Amino acid sequence: MPCTVVVGGFWGDEGKGKIISYLALKDNIDICARAGSVNAAHTVIHEGKALKLHMIPSGFVNKNCRLLLGAGVNIHVPQLMKEIKETNVGDRLGIDPQCSIIEEKHSIQDKTSAHLKGVIGTTGWGVGPAIEERVRRTAKLAKDIAELKPYLTDVAMEVNNAIDKGKNVLLEGTQGLYLSLYHGTYPYVTGRDTTASAVCSEIGVGPKKVDNVLIVFKAYVTRVGAGPLPNELPREEIIKRGWLEISGTGRERRAAPFNYELARRAVIINSATEAAVTKLDVIFPKCRSAKNYEELPAEAKSFIERIEAEIRIPVTLIGVGPGPFQIIDRRKSLI
Ligand code: IMP
Ligand code: MG
Repeated sequence: MPCTVVVGGFWGDEGKGKIISYLALKDNIDICARAGSVNAAHTVIHEGKALKLHMIPSGFVNKNCRLLLGAGVNIHVPQLMKEIKETNVGDRLGIDPQCSIIEEKHSIQDKTSAHLKGVIGTTGWGVGPAIEERVRRTAKLAKDIAELKPYLTDVAMEVNNAIDKGKNVLLEGTQGLYLSLYHGTYPYVTGRDTTASAVCSEIGVGPKKVDNVLIVFKAYVTRVGAGPLPNELPREEIIKRGWLEISGTGRERRAAPFNYELARRAVIINSATEAAVTKLDVIFPKCRSAKNYEELPAEAKSFIERIEAEIRIPVTLIGVGPGPFQIIDRRKSLI
């Protein structure tokens, strides 16, 4: 493992939370450091409960895993406090003093702006306005907040020291490539870059320290909020195929079939070394009972093989059900 970055390949909601929680347990991750901001949420099933995490790294499921928020993260303090309670991780959480703070006024701006809420369809948390404030250099930082004092640590140095010692470090990206401020479908994007490079930059890890970049795709493409979605299906067709999902913000996700071209582009821009494909069972229900690759139905195998041929990296992890271990792990045979 040593240092792996996990990113989303489409418009977020690819199932990064599930993949990261699996890796945290399976590979005994020592550190899980998160980039990004509150936004929609990473869903992790833990002890039978589905948790929607906006701030706590998904690696929390491994009780020995140190959890860090990099300097580029924007913190929503009440949400973070709520999640610390829910997950009971206060004693192993570290926050960089230079994380910036999302204030109430930012959320209000986000929710009431005709452009942000009305045109772009943001998640309404206030991430964009908080980043604006940071760019103006008037932002409050984590080090200014009394409640956050117990958690402050130099995240960049902690992560770099751990990598140098050969520990298993996972850097958790959020959202997906096509929501990137630079590489996405501007202006219908989030307020930050979402590439593997940006994840490293937000946490403070240089480009030579990363060993693997794992890109997560869902077996079909979804998008919530406004902006282009090539080959978008009509709502009736989405329902017919069983692809209708409700996002964390209560909105229905738009959907389209798997997009090989966009996936290939995402692999290139993230310099991805391996891919995960989640929710294969939604397309091919017979996958649910499969415990290994050979047991997958032929049509599911040809779909995975077509993806590999198009994106030109191996599909090492395949999600075949909602549970944290409903994953076919092909890493031993492929890498
Ligand atoms: P913002 O990041 O809240 O400013 O939202 C900008 C756009 O990105 C909107 O279309 C959101 O729906 C979308 N978006 C932001 N975060 C996520 C996410 O975590 N999952 C899916 N869509 C997201
Ligand atoms: Mg999500």
